[in-house]
Amino acid sequence: MENLYKPFKVKIIKIEKHSNNVKLFRLEKNLSFNPGQFILVSYFGYGEAPFGIASSPYQDLYIDIVVRRVGTLTKALHQLKEGDEIFMRGPYGNGFPLNFMSGKDVVMVTGGCGIPPIAALIEYIIANKDKFGRVYLIYGARTPNDLLMKNNFERWGKSIKVLLTIDKSDKNWKGYVGMVSELIDEIKINSKDAVAAMCGPGPMMDALEKILRPLGISDRRIFVNMERKMQCGIGKCQHCVTGDKYVCKDGPVFNFDEIDKSWD
Ligand SMILES: Cc1cc2nc3c(=O)[nH]c(=O)nc-3n(C[C@H](O)[C@H](O)[C@H](O)COP(=O)(O)OP(=O)(O)OC[C@H]3O[C@@H](n4cnc5c(N)ncnc54)[C@H](O)[C@@H]3O)c2cc1C
Ligand code: FES
Repeated sequence: MENLYKPFKVKIIKIEKHSNNVKLFRLEKNLSFNPGQFILVSYFGYGEAPFGIASSPYQDLYIDIVVRRVGTLTKALHQLKEGDEIFMRGPYGNGFPLNFMSGKDVVMVTGGCGIPPIAALIEYIIANKDKFGRVYLIYGARTPNDLLMKNNFERWGKSIKVLLTIDKSDKNWKGYVGMVSELIDEIKINSKDAVAAMCGPGPMMDALEKILRPLGISDRRIFVNMERKMQCGIGKCQHCVTGDKYVCKDGPVFNFDEIDKSWD
């Protein structure tokens, strides 16, 4: 049996530049995972860090991660070329509660670099479209250039409603600017039987107050994928503890009402 805690070597089979400081890495690996779970990626001499899986859980040839260049490891990863090898372990964490979400309308909200786990959830929903009601993605970024995974928007838009919003427009932009609250008119859901999935603290509070609460989605039906600094990824080192929860083991997906009580 494969040891989940032991890093193994994977080959980078594709690299795509998605913005000035973000690249997608396609890793040659058949990995069984739930949308919302993460892997720990390491490159010898530069450390190890968690990344959400962005590809479809039904894809058995590869997994995608989308990496923002912020520090030691991510800078080193951005220097790598297709064909290079890195190490990974996982998948870890709980992922989104797919059984609970099934049969319901779904509103997904994310911003900037929070898209990877939401992208995997979108792929799952599209592959199981008959099990879901109306499905919306609200994705915001600072400028059009900061929107990641753009190549997918047209395909996703054939199955779910994709609503893009940015803070600062350019001359080619035809979508929404700023006003997240304006998007509410586009969303037609059965609020009593709808769920929401969010990722990233940035857009979270704004979207919560301006969209999800006005739509009538209760906090216990809002699932948030949280990012916290991690080390072991398996509930041993306490680096990711917040309140009485381990983000690596109990999360990274939490109910919003759980977070309200225990988040610091
Ligand atoms: C469950 C989970 C999923 C994640 N998914 C993704 C993803 O899909 N794509 C992605 O680009 N990043 C993701 N991250 C964040 C990513 O793990 C960090 O950016 C990474 O640890 C940076 O490593 P580094 O060695 O390059 O930076 P370091 O050299 O360790 O740090 C550089 C700077 O980033 C800050 N930093 C480091 N880690 C975090 C963190 N977790 N949260 C906030 N600030 C941090 C440090 O304080 C420092 O200021 C995820 C984190 C978690 C916990
Ligand atoms: S990362 Fe070590 S306990 Fe969560």
